[in-house]
Amino acid sequence: MLRSEIIGVGSYVPDRVLTNFDMEKFLDTSDEWIRKRTGIEQRRWAALGQCTSDLALEASQEALKSAGVAVADIDMIIFATLTPDHFFPGTGCFLQEKLGVPGIASLDIRQQCTGFIYGLSIADHFIRCGTYKKILLVGSEVHSSGLDRTTRGRDVTVLFGDGAGAVVLSAKEVSDSDRESFVLGCHLHADGRGAKELWIPAPGSALGRPDRIDHEVLNEGLHYPHMNGKKVFIAAVTKMAESLTACLREHGVTVDDVDRFFFHQANLRINDAVAEQLKIPAEKVFNTIQKFGNTTAATIPLGMHEALKAGELKKGMLVALAAFGSGYTWGSSLLRY
Ligand code: UT7
Repeated sequence: MLRSEIIGVGSYVPDRVLTNFDMEKFLDTSDEWIRKRTGIEQRRWAALGQCTSDLALEASQEALKSAGVAVADIDMIIFATLTPDHFFPGTGCFLQEKLGVPGIASLDIRQQCTGFIYGLSIADHFIRCGTYKKILLVGSEVHSSGLDRTTRGRDVTVLFGDGAGAVVLSAKEVSDSDRESFVLGCHLHADGRGAKELWIPAPGSALGRPDRIDHEVLNEGLHYPHMNGKKVFIAAVTKMAESLTACLREHGVTVDDVDRFFFHQANLRINDAVAEQLKIPAEKVFNTIQKFGNTTAATIPLGMHEALKAGELKKGMLVALAAFGSGYTWGSSLLRY
């Protein structure tokens, strides 16, 4: 049977480190508050002029190099982001131009923090069907230029960081499904009733004003992310735990069988609560939020790359992924790396 294997992983974070103490200098917040409520100690912010596709390019080139695959061999780009270079066209087209591979398919997806798992599922299906053999899947974000740096937006502003992660997926014929490296399955969910609990209201066609962006929009801060943190927190813990439990059960494995868990990095307390509910030993959960904050679509591939570099992700390991985010969207995946 035809299945997809992750054959390369890469990531990139901008050089500029912004600690919680740096944030105290311009925002009504404190290192103590951020650390205690989120686990975050620092995040990276892009340099002026460094855009989402720039970060993605660096991560993609590293993923291609680690896969030993020439960019010309890629059949498709799937790009997950909520901070695109422009309103349209999709950022995948800008990345494709930078990679120098005109003509191949490019698809942007809007699944926010669950973007990587949705993208993995889409890539896996294209490969299982035999449509494409090699797919570059990227999650990349530049949040820093879109954050409300006043007290009004401090709940969100302290959370987000800039960064990118990428994987190369390759088609392979699999015979012994118990041992070989491939994506076993992805489980996707959404509930639009939660759409306005974490969102950016403008610019957009639903604004009901003659112009999508005007001075009122700017004054009201509608172009910044808005979040009902407590509601999102509870939903994240519930849905990630639920989806992961169903995913493991469907594939006939238990927490003990899984070597590493990569969760979306929104809040360390969310991940600790999910681990506690499922009785996952802390050492199996690989967290990076302390260093990078929440890089939304990039958190999972960035975490995988960090784990690889630290020797904590090795070929043959059984790996589970889970994420929850704006939409609401959430999902999980099981793969043998
Ligand atoms: O990635 C997508 C999914 N995103 C998430 O999953 C995020 C989910 N939510 C959260 O992580 C948490 O709700 C937050 C970290 C955002 C907030 O933590 P919380 O424990 O829910 O705090 P809160 O919103 O209830 O705020 C408590 C207090 C408030 O002050 P009062 O009303 O008690 O006086 C806030 O105004 O903390 C205040 N506050 C801050 N103080 C210092 C909110 N943000 C900050 C801040 N610094 N950055």
